[in-house]
Amino acid sequence: MNTLFRGKHFITDQEWTREELDTVFDVAFDLKKRFALGEPHRLLADKTLFMMFFEQSTRTRNSFEAGMTQLGGHAHDLTPDKMQISHGETALDTAKVLSRYGHGISIRNCFFEIGNAYIREIARHASVPIFNMQCDIYHPCQAMGDLMTIFEKFGRNLRGKKFVMSWAYAPSYTKPMSVPQSLVLLMTRFGMDVTLAHPKEFYLMPSILEETKENARKAGVKFEVVHDMDVAFEGAHVLYPKSWGCLQYLKDQNITDKEQSMAISKKYTDWICDSRRMGLTARDSIYMHCLPADRGNEVTDEVIDGPHSIVFDEAENRLHVQKALMALSMGGRP
Ligand code: CP
Repeated sequence: MNTLFRGKHFITDQEWTREELDTVFDVAFDLKKRFALGEPHRLLADKTLFMMFFEQSTRTRNSFEAGMTQLGGHAHDLTPDKMQISHGETALDTAKVLSRYGHGISIRNCFFEIGNAYIREIARHASVPIFNMQCDIYHPCQAMGDLMTIFEKFGRNLRGKKFVMSWAYAPSYTKPMSVPQSLVLLMTRFGMDVTLAHPKEFYLMPSILEETKENARKAGVKFEVVHDMDVAFEGAHVLYPKSWGCLQYLKDQNITDKEQSMAISKKYTDWICDSRRMGLTARDSIYMHCLPADRGNEVTDEVIDGPHSIVFDEAENRLHVQKALMALSMGGRP
């Protein structure tokens, strides 16, 4: 088992080995147990994390900040308007300065074709570990928290289990593609048969689809893409229906107005997770959503508040898995 994590960036779990990710889960389960017992675990005493949010957040902001407090450190909640980024300060200067003051930097920047590049630019110049709190391509902390939750329900051998990542309709805002992309990548890697379902315009980035196919090939599992929600739900064990924007389609059509995604999505208001569809799934199936959910559009109250739903376990596990990542990368052995 590799125990050398100190200083390692977490931009996508694809860049961590399977062994390293297994260690993260082991540590996360241990920290969850210690949290439940009220046992102190000040593994990052007096350390500082700088959290940079270019977008809103409830779960990510509060789980990272609470996590740092529980680990004995402190997190700064930063937004561009509080920083000189708003006056054009570069990623290089921001990375070098924050590296002098603390021990880690976490960033959420979901702007399409900007976010991941910004995080990588910060990582290039920082001398402390960088954590991706969601970008335009990945939401790795979400995927890790989700997989931890699936382990709790089905055990750590997931062979033969069917995971469905389905698009669902949501009128609230155009959501990034990062959650479905990180999920199909990670779930194939950990041995689940993965079905991706979406209306034809809502396809994921070609590079992600290629990587997912390769993950599935290496793991000896299935990866299929379908355009029918009912077909996808048939016999599935894990249902993850959520909305995302058709940003790759707009790019391919040379459409610059991102609002067009919402207009196109209105053709597919029947893509909702309801009791009838849950009835198509395996008897012991689980319903998952990263939250925030568009109740009444992506999912009915009956499903999200019903017996299949594990959305609050899922939200909680963000805390434990991120604490494990921070404890290993910001602390750990030198
Ligand atoms: N799931 C998730 O990342 O939630 P927030 O946007 O509230 O952080």
